[in-house]
This record gives sequence, structure tokens and C-alpha cells, in this order.
Amino acid sequence: MRVLSGGPLVSGALERVRAIAEVIETDDPIGWSREELLARVSDVDALIALPSQRIDEELLSRAPSLRVVANHAVGVDNVDLAACRARGLPVTNTPGVLTEATADLAFALILDACRRVSEGDRDVRAGRFRGWGPRLHLGRRVYGATLGIVGFGRIGRAVAERARGFAMEILHSTSRSTPQELDTLLRRADIVSLHAPLNDSTRGLLSRARMESMKPGAVVINTARGPLLDEVALAELLTAGHLGGAGLDVYEGEPRIHPALLAAPHLVLAPHIGSADEPTRAAMAELACASVIAALRGEAIPNRVA
Ligand code: GLV
Repeated sequence: MRVLSGGPLVSGALERVRAIAEVIETDDPIGWSREELLARVSDVDALIALPSQRIDEELLSRAPSLRVVANHAVGVDNVDLAACRARGLPVTNTPGVLTEATADLAFALILDACRRVSEGDRDVRAGRFRGWGPRLHLGRRVYGATLGIVGFGRIGRAVAERARGFAMEILHSTSRSTPQELDTLLRRADIVSLHAPLNDSTRGLLSRARMESMKPGAVVINTARGPLLDEVALAELLTAGHLGGAGLDVYEGEPRIHPALLAAPHLVLAPHIGSADEPTRAAMAELACASVIAALRGEAIPNRVA
């Protein structure tokens, strides 16, 4: 049996896979490119996919012996679930284990975007720190602010838990909220943090009109998926001063960053590191490998989403 690992994983989880199958690996830290994946799937029984790897009809049609796609992520927007279902091909994800790490990162971006830490770091390194000034580097207050959490699943709730320590008023919306409820949240929140999965009903959720309806000076945080918000509108509203700041960990065209974002002020840009702490990545690898092993052994497959 052959297992294709989309990229080099943390932890020894792959060792257990190696005990029952040949594992095809790459040392490239960002994993196989699209072309490399396409060239290698033809005779594999299992695929561990990274969130940056698109698992679509074209790839599936080249992988006739595939028995499971184990997505090394909780979001499965990179996988064409309908195409997998049509083939009876199980798909799994890694839920639960990255909740705390992603909530930590959301909070890091909230603090950074509000208090301009990264901006200050750039100033210091560029020799622009001339001394303490009463009007300099003024940011937005985090303690006691109103936080709007869009998407109130595991990660959204974990962000709320942290926000209580900052005496924040917490508003939230879910996929069951009405558009009016979301609009009320956006009008009232000082900080809006996105925690919804990407799917047909959430793509473009934070549209230009919705960001325009936010309070002047409000801050936008996205650690979910890039296409949840309109990046060009975000950049323009930051430049115009309507929005006070933003922190992004995910992008529409990852790893490409829209030039408008690169030019916008008060914007913190992180390289998709929501789940990037050691124990989290180890636990994600364990879950992905457990799903592969179960599938290859013909046992019930844990964490199936299709
Ligand atoms: C990472 O982005 C994930 O969805 O786990």
C-alpha cells in the first residue's frame, strides 16, 4: 500500500503509517506543488492533503486506487466534497485540536492590530523611534471593547473565552443568524473577528457594504479563510480611514497577497499560522494519520466529513 503525504508532518505520526504502508514524502516545507501531486497520485491508496492543495475532479480522476483523503486541516474548502462523495471516497479533517491555537492567534492579531505592535516594530527597526511622545503610536483600546464574533463554533467560542479576560462585550452570529442580526453585530462591534468555515453561503460574507456599515475606526480580524471578506474593499476602507485596523492570517489567493493589502495602512499580515504551535501541528498529524491507518485497515474512519 502507498500513502502520499502532502508535505512533511510534525511528530512521529507518519511512523505508524510506515508500519503498514510505503509513505511517499517531500522535504519541501510547503509540500508538493500541484504538478508534483498530479504526477504522484496515480497509484496511491491514501492521500494526506495540506489545506493549500486543491483536491478536485482533475486530481481524483488520476487517482483510481485512492481510498481516503485525510485533510491536514479542519477547513475542507480545498476539497471537492461532492466529487469525493460521488466516488464514495471518504474525506476526513482534524477538528478540535487546533481550536486553542487558532483562538490564540486571533487574539494576537486583535492585540497587534489595535495596539500597532508590528507597525511599531517596523518603526523601531527603521530608526523612526525618536522618543516617547504623547500623541505617538496611538492605537485602539482592547480592554472593554465590543467584540463581534462571526461564526460561533469551537474556535469562535474559544475566542470569546479569551475576550472575557479583557472585559469585552461579546456579540456573536452563526450560520443560523438572520442577515439583520449580522448587520446589527457589524454596526455595534469595535472589533469583528471571523470564525466561519468557507462555503457557498459564507464566501464574500464581509462585503464592501458590510464593512462600510461598521463603526468608524473598527478593526477586522480574519483567521478563517481569505474569501470570507472582500480584500480590495478592506484595503480601501483602511486607506480611507473608515476602518481603524485589521489583522489577516489568510488570503484569497494564498500565498499571493493582493497588492492593495500590501499598500494598506494599519494592517497586520500573518502567513497562515493559526494552527502553527508545536502540540497543535503534532495533534493534527496524529489525527490525519489515524484516519489513513483506519481506512487502509478497513476499519471505521474517524473524523469523516464525507
Ligand atoms: C487550517 O487552516 C485549518 O483549516 O486547519
